[in-house]
Amino acid sequence: MATQFSVADLELDLHRFPRNQDSNLQAWDAADEHLVLSLTENSLAAITSPYKLTSFDNLAILNDNFGGLTCSLTAYAAKQNQALSLWVESDAKTSVQGIEQNLQNNQLNSEHIHWRTSTKSLPRNLNAVVIKLPKNLHYFTLQLQKLSHILPSGTPILIAAKAKSINAALLTLISQNLGPASASLTYKKTRVITCISDGKIRPTHETITWPVPEYQLTMHNLSNVFAANKLDIGARFMLENMPNGNFHNIVDLGCGNGILGLRAAQLFPEAHLHFVDDSDMAITSAKENWHTNQFTTAQGHFYWSDCLSQLTENLEPDLILCNPPFHQGEAITDHIAWQMFLDAKRRLTAGGILHVVGNRHLAYHVKLKRIFKNCTTVASNGKFVILQAQKR
Ligand SMILES: C[S@@+](CC[C@H](N)C(=O)[O-])C[C@H]1O[C@@H](n2cnc3c(N)ncnc32)[C@H](O)[C@@H]1O
Repeated sequence: MATQFSVADLELDLHRFPRNQDSNLQAWDAADEHLVLSLTENSLAAITSPYKLTSFDNLAILNDNFGGLTCSLTAYAAKQNQALSLWVESDAKTSVQGIEQNLQNNQLNSEHIHWRTSTKSLPRNLNAVVIKLPKNLHYFTLQLQKLSHILPSGTPILIAAKAKSINAALLTLISQNLGPASASLTYKKTRVITCISDGKIRPTHETITWPVPEYQLTMHNLSNVFAANKLDIGARFMLENMPNGNFHNIVDLGCGNGILGLRAAQLFPEAHLHFVDDSDMAITSAKENWHTNQFTTAQGHFYWSDCLSQLTENLEPDLILCNPPFHQGEAITDHIAWQMFLDAKRRLTAGGILHVVGNRHLAYHVKLKRIFKNCTTVASNGKFVILQAQKR
């Protein structure tokens, strides 16, 4: 796997997070390179973007995956002896940890960075904003709408993406939600869109609400949460096949909106529920769903965390519910499921159960057998399987 990122006369050593994932994926992509070049080099900027940044003061970076943008701009400003103040906004804990790891690894100062999660606001005095186009366009639209509240007319916003993701509809979406936009020429199959904010405030559409009548629940989902406006079919199969037992500490691992944990709280009303997700919007939604569905405040606990890494050390759950992700950003990968299963084995109390739903073709039983030395099929249908492994 390549780790040397060369851009704008800089040499950086960049890794994904977590670093030890068994994958040949890089920590940056050509869109990062294009964006950094557009911001730093006159010659390329002339063909790619009409905008050349003259100061790195009060610049916001949105959706940087693992520091390709934050590390490059930090290193560039240091080399040019330029003042630097960056607002780095991310929904994913693993991105924040990846950016921090790469700054440290490249001996780059992080004192000039102000971190913002996706559910908070950026300040009003930004000079420019750079954005990596996220996969989820509802989330992107919300980001534009929120920017329309704080950016004065004339502020440049540069948005980088694969050329195949950029079309007339996307430019219209940007124009409608922030200001006029035009796309650059193609560079390594990517383009940079330059938008100039028009100073008009747009209403924000933050939460989608929908009922799950079978379980008398009402779900609220923020825009970057998995299964945004309906029950996921894997989650539905899990809800129909919940485990039996007498549980006291239950973890909903990769909770999304928290639907599995909410159902567990109905079935095991004495238990404490621990909701864990890498997405800040997921954790915020799960918390809102816990309160609006009137569960006991003191029994709900919420962790913005990469797998179980942020859980208090003395917590030993007796049940972990898990509908694992099989991608990280745009990359298909099974390393998160692996990490979730390994963390579950480490943290469960003796006799505790990991209860998993997955697509049949993902063959999670092979991983569970390797880690737990046991695995039982609880239910299956044409598409999904529910598996249980016990810590012995
Ligand atoms: C398939 S969804 C399941 C959501 C929900 N539990 C359900 O069944 O509808 C997987 C969830 O795992 C979360 N996730 C991804 N990577 C993670 C990580 N490293 N640590 C914790 N959660 C993660 C995603 O944000 C997503 O909400």
